[in-house]
Amino acid sequence: MPHPGWPAELTAGPVLLRPPRWRDARAWSEVRLRNEEWLRQWEPTAAGSWAERHAPGAWPALRAALRRAARDGTMLPFMICYGGRVVGQISAANIAHGVLRSCNVGYWVDGAVAGRGIVPTALALVIDHLFAEVGLHRVEVDIRPENAASLRVVEKLGLRREGYYERYLDIDGAWRSHIAFAITVEELDGGTLLSRLPSLPRPPG
Ligand SMILES: CC(C)(COP(=O)(O)OP(=O)(O)OC[C@H]1O[C@@H](n2cnc3c(N)ncnc32)[C@H](O)[C@@H]1OP(=O)(O)O)[C@@H](O)C(=O)NCCC(=O)NCCS
Repeated sequence: MPHPGWPAELTAGPVLLRPPRWRDARAWSEVRLRNEEWLRQWEPTAAGSWAERHAPGAWPALRAALRRAARDGTMLPFMICYGGRVVGQISAANIAHGVLRSCNVGYWVDGAVAGRGIVPTALALVIDHLFAEVGLHRVEVDIRPENAASLRVVEKLGLRREGYYERYLDIDGAWRSHIAFAITVEELDGGTLLSRLPSLPRPPG
């Protein structure tokens, strides 16, 4: 049975979210290699060097794993494009159906385009899609207390603080505590999360 709401392309202004493609290898590798310092401290602990894990040749296996998870219905992995260029990723992971109908969303963006409201827009698009098309009831975002920029993202969208998880995720070589934020569909009162944003990002240039 096809996974509801997948594949999908979601767009708002200059921000486009779409499934990963084989031909993203070079663009993905370039942005990931250039952003090691920016991203590493917030990312899952992984074996191998950053350079090895983000070479263009690493993309096919990663993309295949994302595609498999999407087909199985456990994940919605989107590339974030801005002005037609790949600048990041946003994924709904750990999708549970049945009585829970919930998931976790994670994201990153190229430091060169940070601060333009790209990820708040992307997160709003994804959550609206998860509620309207995938049929989920709840979405969670877990953020390290030190991650001021990411805390601003959920604040801009009015996600509710739900709790504090001690030593919760294995990030950058250690078990890191996280603050859990969540939203359930009722909190949108029939509206969209995207409409909570005062404006969309301006196009690049
Ligand atoms: C967290 C992150 C996804 C936010 O994405 P974004 O598209 O830049 O989000 P915004 O444009 O709303 O900016 C959020 C905050 O970042 C800060 N910021 C703005 N410009 C910035 C810049 N050039 N560099 C660093 N931080 C900046 C500001 O505090 C901003 O809040 P403000 O709009 O109230 O000033 C992005 O900073 C990122 O990818 N960080 C590294 C990976 C990461 O932390 N992932 C999330 C793990 S939970």
